[in-house]
Amino acid sequence: MVSQTHAPRKPEIPSASELKKRHAAQAAIVHVKDHMTVGLGTGTTSAFFISLLASHAREKGLTLRCVATSDASAYLARASGLTVVNFEDVKSIDLAVDGADQVDGRKNLIKGYGGALAREKVVEYAARKFVVIADDSKLCAHLDKPVPVEFIPFAKAAVQNSLSALGAKSVRLRLGSDSEPYRTDNGLWIFDADFGKITGPAKLEGLLGAIPGVLACGLFSQNVHSVIIGTQKGAKEI
Ligand code: 5RP
Repeated sequence: MVSQTHAPRKPEIPSASELKKRHAAQAAIVHVKDHMTVGLGTGTTSAFFISLLASHAREKGLTLRCVATSDASAYLARASGLTVVNFEDVKSIDLAVDGADQVDGRKNLIKGYGGALAREKVVEYAARKFVVIADDSKLCAHLDKPVPVEFIPFAKAAVQNSLSALGAKSVRLRLGSDSEPYRTDNGLWIFDADFGKITGPAKLEGLLGAIPGVLACGLFSQNVHSVIIGTQKGAKEI
């Protein structure tokens, strides 16, 4: 009889970027208190936070309610053992924690590369405290990445024209892996509009949000309480 031996499974070594995201997510746990209603963001950094939050709540015996900004985050949170309720069923959000695609020194953000910008804005602007968690590659002097803009497909041409009129150098319709227009959880489409260096994020956010047919844009210039930047060695809060 041949006996089989199995080599022990090698522990997975996190990449440098994963480590930084995890450090940022871990440092946000200090903001969590018993009986809070917590807004959960979307994306890889938020996924770390959701898992750590679930472990923390279990270890400390905390009673938490969570509101998710995407179907994916709701699924992950429930699978991790967290209680997820509908946004319409909560009176207030005590704390929201979410990642970002770009952060400047004044706590302005570009968000939405994960496609959840509208629900993120609704939940995070409603939160008493909104904490951003990001790895240090997201920090910049001036926002200059393309800004996601979620809109109703009916208004595609009109929204595209308005974005160009507001100074967008390029306006790209986001596509999914099937090469069809990417559909958000709201069933809408996204343009990624490149404005180059953004000198007035609050003003541009207002202008983009006012375009008829636009649901939300990925510029976030309000309500950020703090930004936690994850580095290889740990995290710093700004
Ligand atoms: C999703 C978002 C994310 O927070 C943003 O894209 C950052 O994602 P990641 O943590 O994966 O880098 O805005 O809509």
